[in-house]
Amino acid sequence: MNLIDGKAISAQIKQEIAEEVANIKAAGGKTPHLAAVLVGHDGGSETYVAAKVKACEEVGFKSTLIRYEDDVTETELLACVERLNNDTDIDGFIVQLPLPKHISEDKITEAIDYRKDVDGFHPVNVGRMSLGLPCFLSATPSGIMELLKRYEIETKGKHCVILGRSNIVGKPAAVLMMQKGYPGDCTVTVCHSRTSNIKEMCLQADIIIAALGVPEFLKGDMVKEGTVVIDVGTTRVPSDKTKSGFRLAGDVAFDEVAPKCSYITPVPGGVGPMTIVSLMKNTLLAGKKVIY
Ligand code: GUN
Repeated sequence: MNLIDGKAISAQIKQEIAEEVANIKAAGGKTPHLAAVLVGHDGGSETYVAAKVKACEEVGFKSTLIRYEDDVTETELLACVERLNNDTDIDGFIVQLPLPKHISEDKITEAIDYRKDVDGFHPVNVGRMSLGLPCFLSATPSGIMELLKRYEIETKGKHCVILGRSNIVGKPAAVLMMQKGYPGDCTVTVCHSRTSNIKEMCLQADIIIAALGVPEFLKGDMVKEGTVVIDVGTTRVPSDKTKSGFRLAGDVAFDEVAPKCSYITPVPGGVGPMTIVSLMKNTLLAGKKVIY
């Protein structure tokens, strides 16, 4: 069993990005600038946004954090998006989700200029990804592809079973794993909460991407010997062993599944650290203005 070390790979990629940023600056180019919009005080969102801002510092980007209280109106938030769209110093920006219930996430996402949509959530970017055209790829699937590449894991002709059909992980991961080339060229099966024979499907998989958000869903008797398992689960569960009072639980029963795998990602330290690096990669791309 080989452990896929997302922490080490993400540190390596951050270093590569930092070197490129230093070269851009040395040549008199513009420092890439990411803005993040954070609404309210959700604990998870606060943590994620703080990590994004810190990553910007580490690679040499400029970053701006814009905060609103929970009672911000949709109109105010749309006006903020419009300002950021028109701000020529901002290369890319994100609006951290989830948003309060009175604000339409779809409306906000669609209002973002797709050329600054470094989350890759805008329909133009999702559509372009499906067509295999240049675009901003959403962070988690992009991070998974990068891990497969860096570990030189064979994907051609393999059966990839994806657990979960979310717009930000399951669906885009299915598209990328079936696309022509490497990583890709897989036969893909997408399973979800209404799939009746998930165990049977998983037992046929060469690669499993678990993105259901159900802690320890994938058990040892659901995988065959030699499977590659990518665990995208990050459910916060209470814990008396951590200072924060919670720990992150993956979708994979790691102790049972790991001994059967050829490769497996841990939680934490697998896919998680890669998502921020994907955002940094997209911001660098946005700074270069190559997506138009
Ligand atoms: N909430 C959870 N993940 C993400 C993400 O990748 N981007 C944004 N904007 N919000 C999120």
